[in-house]
Amino acid sequence: MSLSSTKVSAAGPVGVFDSGYGGLTILRQIRQLMPQYDYLYLGDNARAPYGSHSFEVVYEYTLQAVEALFARGCNLVILACNTASAKALRSIQQNDLSRIDPTRRVLGVILPTVEAVGGITRSRHVGVLATTGTILSRSYEMEIHKLHPEIAVTGQACPMWVPLVENDEFDSPGADYFVKKRVEGILRTDPDIDTLILACTHYPLLMEKIVKYTPAGVRIVTQGEYVAASLADYLRRHPDMDRRCGKGGRSRYLTTESPEKFRESALLFMREKEVDVERISLG
Ligand code: DGL
Repeated sequence: MSLSSTKVSAAGPVGVFDSGYGGLTILRQIRQLMPQYDYLYLGDNARAPYGSHSFEVVYEYTLQAVEALFARGCNLVILACNTASAKALRSIQQNDLSRIDPTRRVLGVILPTVEAVGGITRSRHVGVLATTGTILSRSYEMEIHKLHPEIAVTGQACPMWVPLVENDEFDSPGADYFVKKRVEGILRTDPDIDTLILACTHYPLLMEKIVKYTPAGVRIVTQGEYVAASLADYLRRHPDMDRRCGKGGRSRYLTTESPEKFRESALLFMREKEVDVERISLG
């Protein structure tokens, strides 16, 4: 699909995209900070998780999602998914936006997190817990080193964590096994780590268990707060884009899977009962 006109389009909702439900943890914090905006969330639940897909597949799926959100009036889209931010954001920003509509914008969740980390770690040893795709992309390491070359960054893929969350098993004894294994693993690799980044938007759901296996002196960093603050700052610095973001305080949801399942998960991830959700197809 090509939205060939470069004419500046009317105000629309802020688009928030994730492979599944994880991005709802980001949306919740964005809305807490900026309840006045309209939001349109898209979860590609039918094709989640993205974490183990190749670069090409994540890029293709993410581009389809961005185009679907643009087609529904979003002028600004947040990729509330580390895997998509790591594997697709740069290509979309550099190659696709000029073709689709150069006046629209797509932002990710990695930079806002990385910008915060330099001020948090004292030991200058940071651990990154993420999907296999995000770890293999080395995006966190590269972005942290651009700002703070002295910080030692250790990555740990946690391939079972997203399936545990997506399948409602994050509270189960089985989750203890996988959380313990990865948290202990990364701290064994670098015992000087004092900051663990939960670099996947699904992971806040596993927080209770992550805290359980993390020593008291290690700080656990989630992303929602930093992404929300960074978006607020972006809109302050870009009043033209701010004017193109609708401000009716309304949120709507799109899923590529069943709306009923999405409603149950919205309750879990956002503690929200009445969600306006519609099923769409991508691609
Ligand atoms: N929530 C996504 C992230 O932040 C990805 C989960 C997945 O689909 O693997 O990486």
